[in-house]
Order: sequence, then C-alpha cells, then structure tokens
Amino acid sequence: MAHDEKHVIVTGASSGIGRATAVALAEQGYSVHLIGRNAERLANVQTETRREGVRSTTYQLELTDKTAVQQVFDEIYATTGRIDGLVNAAGIFYTTNVLDYEDPSWKEIMDVNFYGTLYPSLALLPKLIAQGFGSIVNVTSVDAFDGISNYDAYAASKGAVTSLTKTLALEGAAKNVRVNAVVPGITDTEMTHERLLENIEKYRKKVPMQRAAQASEVAKPIAFLISDDSSYITGQSLHVNGGWRLA
Ligand SMILES: NC(=O)c1ccc[n+]([C@@H]2O[C@H](COP(=O)([O-])OP(=O)(O)OC[C@H]3O[C@@H](n4cnc5c(N)ncnc54)[C@H](OP(=O)(O)O)[C@@H]3O)[C@@H](O)[C@H]2O)c1
Repeated sequence: MAHDEKHVIVTGASSGIGRATAVALAEQGYSVHLIGRNAERLANVQTETRREGVRSTTYQLELTDKTAVQQVFDEIYATTGRIDGLVNAAGIFYTTNVLDYEDPSWKEIMDVNFYGTLYPSLALLPKLIAQGFGSIVNVTSVDAFDGISNYDAYAASKGAVTSLTKTLALEGAAKNVRVNAVVPGITDTEMTHERLLENIEKYRKKVPMQRAAQASEVAKPIAFLISDDSSYITGQSLHVNGGWRLA
C-alpha cells in the first residue's frame, strides 16, 4: 500500500448514485471499496474504477445484517490500515401510506435506509476516531424535508438519517471526523427512471431547472464532502436538487 493512498468505502456502489460516486472518487485518485449485492454489477463498476489506475475491491453484503457489516468493514480496514471516507448511498424506495401501516414495506424501508446507514457508520466510526481523521457522507432525500403523501416510510427513513447525521457529527467532531449528508432531488437512476418518464411534466413544474439530475451531478458534491476541501464542514445537509423547494 502506498503511504499516501486514500481509501473510501461506498455502499450502493453497484448502481445509480453510489456507482457514479465510486467512479468520481476513483477519478480523483481514491482507492474504492465497493459494496452492493449484485456481483455482476459490482464487477462492472470495479472494472470502470480500475481504469483510473486505483485499487478497487468489491464486497457482496446485505447491509441489514449488522454482524456481516462489521466483519466486512474489519476486513477492509485490516487490509488498508486506514479509511478516509464512507459514502452511505444504498437505499430502496417503495410507495407506502401511513394509514396502511401493516404494509411490510414500512419495515423493509426502515431496515435498509436507516439501519443500512447506521450499521456501516457504527462499524467504522470508532476506527475513524482512533485514527484521527475521516469523513462520512450519508445520502438522504428531499423527501426528508417535506411531508409527502404516499412516500411516508421513505421520507421517515431519510428524516431519521438526517438526524443521525447530526448526532454522529457531534460524536466525531473533536477527533477530526466529519459526518454530512447530501440531499438529492430527483435523479435519473434505476430507482426513478420509470417514475420520471411517467411524471415528466410534474417534475418539470417542481424543479426550477426543469430536469432531473444525472447521478454524476450528485456524485461530485459527495466527493467534495469526502475530500479535505470540505475540512470545516460537519453535521450539514447539502441540497443538490436543481432548485426544488425554492419554487
Ligand atoms: N434517484 C433519486 O432520485 C434519489 C433521490 C433522493 C435520494 N436518493 C437516494 O440515493 C441513494 C441511491 O439511490 P439510487 O437512485 O442510486 O438507487 P439505485 O440505482 O436503485 O441503487 C440502490 C443501491 O442500493 C443497494 N442496496 C439496496 N438495498 C440493499 C441492501 N439491503 N443491502 C445492500 N445494498 C443494497 C443496491 O444494491 P444491489 O443493486 O446490488 O442490490 C444499489 O447499489 C438511495 O439512498 C436513495 O434513497 C435517490
């Protein structure tokens, strides 16, 4: 391992915003450790990131399994000796309605979006505090900030991560460990592509820039918050939404 080699772990790296973030970080010279479930897609992202000449490793991991998450993070740290950043980009979306709480999607969404962010953060934070540096970026959503009918569980899960971001930032601050959130608006990924096509006029009205983001436009602000260029920013939510909520 080169002495100045910097390492970032990215969850949700097999698709969408996580994938674009892994590529953006590799372009900036970071070694990347890619977490997802789909082996074939992870291998494709590994190939893409290795083209930048950086180290890239893949891990198939179910993020709702706390023990498995700890094992994988311990394994990565044992091989690298340092971790500079963690991007929690994994997430799922289904429509739910609060009046139909028995819908099992409620629990699944909280499990993946909240615990799937909490477990990696808990697995890494003590190591970052001990080494005296590091940056965690959580990917939340514009839906965490507004009430939104039929997105109830998703919005609640992202609200919980918004709050968690501030608490973890307080825990790490004195040891030079920063924790922030990036808050995407509508972004064209597998999660949203069909919804975007079906609701193109709705989003055109909602978003002053009149278009969805490309995943790379969310990835670059994430990479900024991972980097030392944001060395005095912690506990914040950086909105990347084409002006959504201004209108
Ligand atoms: N797209 C948008 O408009 C938008 C807007 C606001 C916020 N966000 C947030 O941005 C993040 C990325 O979303 P995206 O649009 O890039 O979605 P995406 O393309 O569907 O990617 C989701 C990623 O999460 C991983 N994942 C899901 N469940 C997992 C689990 N249980 N364990 C491990 N990995 C799991 C998937 O891995 P596998 O495919 O390998 O299973 C995939 O890599 C999410 O947190 C989402 O809520 C997205």
